[in-house]
Amino acid sequence: MTSLATRAIRASISRKSANLPGQSMSRTVTTRATSHTLNTGAKIPALGFGTFQDSESQEETVSRALQKGMRLIDTARVYNVEEQVGKGVKKSGIPREDIFLGTKLWCNDYHPEDVERAVDDSLRDLDTPYVDLLLMHYPCTFKRGSERFPRDGEGRMLHGDTTYVDTWKAMERLITTGKVKAIGVSNFSKSEIETLIRESSTVPAVHQMEVHPYLQQKEFNRWLRSKGIHVVQFSPLGNMNDFYRQTGWSKEIAHMMRVIDQPVLKEIGKKYGKSPVQVVLSWGINSGRSVIPKSVVDWQVDQNLEADFELEAEDMARVATLDAKARFNDPSMDYEWRLYSDLEGIDGTVRGRTH
Ligand SMILES: NC(=O)c1ccc[n+]([C@@H]2O[C@H](COP(=O)([O-])OP(=O)(O)OC[C@H]3O[C@@H](n4cnc5c(N)ncnc54)[C@H](OP(=O)(O)O)[C@@H]3O)[C@@H](O)[C@H]2O)c1
Repeated sequence: MTSLATRAIRASISRKSANLPGQSMSRTVTTRATSHTLNTGAKIPALGFGTFQDSESQEETVSRALQKGMRLIDTARVYNVEEQVGKGVKKSGIPREDIFLGTKLWCNDYHPEDVERAVDDSLRDLDTPYVDLLLMHYPCTFKRGSERFPRDGEGRMLHGDTTYVDTWKAMERLITTGKVKAIGVSNFSKSEIETLIRESSTVPAVHQMEVHPYLQQKEFNRWLRSKGIHVVQFSPLGNMNDFYRQTGWSKEIAHMMRVIDQPVLKEIGKKYGKSPVQVVLSWGINSGRSVIPKSVVDWQVDQNLEADFELEAEDMARVATLDAKARFNDPSMDYEWRLYSDLEGIDGTVRGRTH
């Protein structure tokens, strides 16, 4: 039995969730520590921790989250937080081998000759000899060089001349170096993943993509599962992240009701003594996926740690009714690449600036 599995059992025995104030009618539910098995055979926790934004707080929050029991940390080169995450991991005192740490390659480093150097940069900043997962952040390739968002004089994104298949093959080669334990993708369409499978010898271990009650992507999720590709839900709380209301490529739909205010989720939460946020995370976990909520607020991290509990089928069905097909993360116009071309929720994309 892996140390992860052992810890999972210990955690499920030792942790019982408390009822929230004013919810005395709710039942007591056991908090689990679910993990999933990737197509590499490695385990990935179902509940993890996102690190996009608030870079000045990430060292402290990553450290505290690990000490409280989080074991999956998601970061990316483009978040500019790898150094803080690395320090947080060290500060936590949790052995590296007990942590599932993933990062993402950014689009200006997609030339096959740049991939290993880019990963070395990430490993140096993360202060670790390996990552458990390396993701290609988006399928679009930007002009090779140090500019993360290379643009022409009119502000239009400059693309590179290699393809995501070339990048993927360079990522495949990294597995043999031991610097990367598994490789996967993020923000790919179905046809882009089909191309990778057809033209390479590695099926992605993970697809990290936007999934929440407002964008459930049921068909695509079924298809990914049939291919043995594990889904990690980013922005698992939908438009809770203000970024989606403020970014230049925000859509009208980003202003819809936040999940925290959603009456159906509140009602379900009452039954279990849980918050709407916990219900949303547990829905993702009970669907067989991993979730990586971001928070730099202690009580929220505590709440998120208590979000792995069983939701009854009738409540899963009620969450299923919230599928508005609302995609909040769509920089297609900005990146000059039609992202998610065969997927749901791509209407209403506007041109704008991400950063
Ligand atoms: N692959 C990609 O392209 C991609 C894209 C987006 C995100 N991601 C990854 O996914 C992670 C999560 O996504 P996200 O940051 O966009 O959004 P999210 O985790 O869905 O939502 C984050 C927002 O929810 C708040 N929050 C968290 N827990 C809460 C709780 N228990 N109660 C009330 N509010 C709570 C946070 O508050 P505070 O701000 O106060 O902490 C923050 O404002 C990122 O950090 C990143 O690692 C990947």
